[in-house]
Amino acid sequence: MNTKKFAALAAGVALALGLAACSGSGAGSASTASSSKAAGGLIGVSMPTQTSSRWIADGKAVEAGLKAAGYQVSLQYANDDIPTQSQQVDQMITQGAKLLIIAAIDGTALSSQLQAAADKGIKVIAYDRLIRDSKNVDFYVTFDNYKVGVQQATSLLVGLGLLTADGSKGAATGPFNVELFAGSLDDNNAAFFWKGAIDTLQPYLDAKTLVVKSGQIKIEQAAILRWDQETAQKRMENLLTSAYSDGSKVNGVLSPYDGISRGIITALTNAGYSGATFPIVTGQDSEIDSVKLIADGVQFSSIFKDTRKLAAQAIVVAQAFLKGSTPEANDTKSYDNGVKIVPSFLLQSDIVYKDNIQKLLIDSGYWTAAQVASGQA
Ligand code: GAL
Repeated sequence: MNTKKFAALAAGVALALGLAACSGSGAGSASTASSSKAAGGLIGVSMPTQTSSRWIADGKAVEAGLKAAGYQVSLQYANDDIPTQSQQVDQMITQGAKLLIIAAIDGTALSSQLQAAADKGIKVIAYDRLIRDSKNVDFYVTFDNYKVGVQQATSLLVGLGLLTADGSKGAATGPFNVELFAGSLDDNNAAFFWKGAIDTLQPYLDAKTLVVKSGQIKIEQAAILRWDQETAQKRMENLLTSAYSDGSKVNGVLSPYDGISRGIITALTNAGYSGATFPIVTGQDSEIDSVKLIADGVQFSSIFKDTRKLAAQAIVVAQAFLKGSTPEANDTKSYDNGVKIVPSFLLQSDIVYKDNIQKLLIDSGYWTAAQVASGQA
């Protein structure tokens, strides 16, 4: 994935946002955009990393949308390094940012920056990932993260044939060997994805229709620090060596994120899995290289979280704050950050399978058919 290619994607996103503003539809209507234009000013956008294509798309989409609405933008990526992110947010405050949009690396690590922001009356929007342990988080825009976990587990069950895609009982009976992966424990989302997934899988685990042969069924055992692909690959290699050296096969792997899935797939491929008996591997984010793997029948599924919609929602919330009004929340109970319940706007996600790539990703303009065919943005 290179930056140029994502700039092209972002340009498309900017166009989409611009069109939404012109059409006067929904929250990004023309009148909202023009009144905020008068307000103008600098907005700080802090993103975790450029190693994952989704955050590049998010950053560019937020930046383009804010610029189209008449704001100046400081967009910074922190290389998944906590001190770097703290420093970048500090700098945005010093530069006079009027509002901050932050996707935190470690949800608990920004308290002093947020206090400094609050002291200056700067509103803070947590983007995709909740910021924890601080009262100075004003709003949270994200997807329904519990439901994402339910969808991941559901797609695993569909892949194994225990469910059909419409949710009814499938023809398979098992038992199946599965292994479970979770995200980074310092990311609040990881626990939500895990809970949604485990609640969905639990009846099958209880009935021994699904068997976690490694015995690693705790989130602490399954977690992958910083959602890192190589760490995931190593863990899968270790699981295969330790739990499957008796000739037994793993049939499915619950993965919470496409980067982790790619690590798992590499480990499985290196261990000789291929073709029709390749394990069912789930994912999240519908990153282009993983969408190609789904189209090729290697990865089974991914969750599609339309980052264009998340960016647009963050901008709606920012504009409301900058106008001095209260942004609309559609959830005021799920996201307790340890200090308070943060008012949230949750978007809905979809399960991507090979047979709905066209409808969900290509027809919606998220990826082109050529990008899916090449696996490159
Ligand atoms: C999570 C996010 C996921 C995925 C993951 C790794 O916070 O909700 O969609 O992107 O980080 O980047």
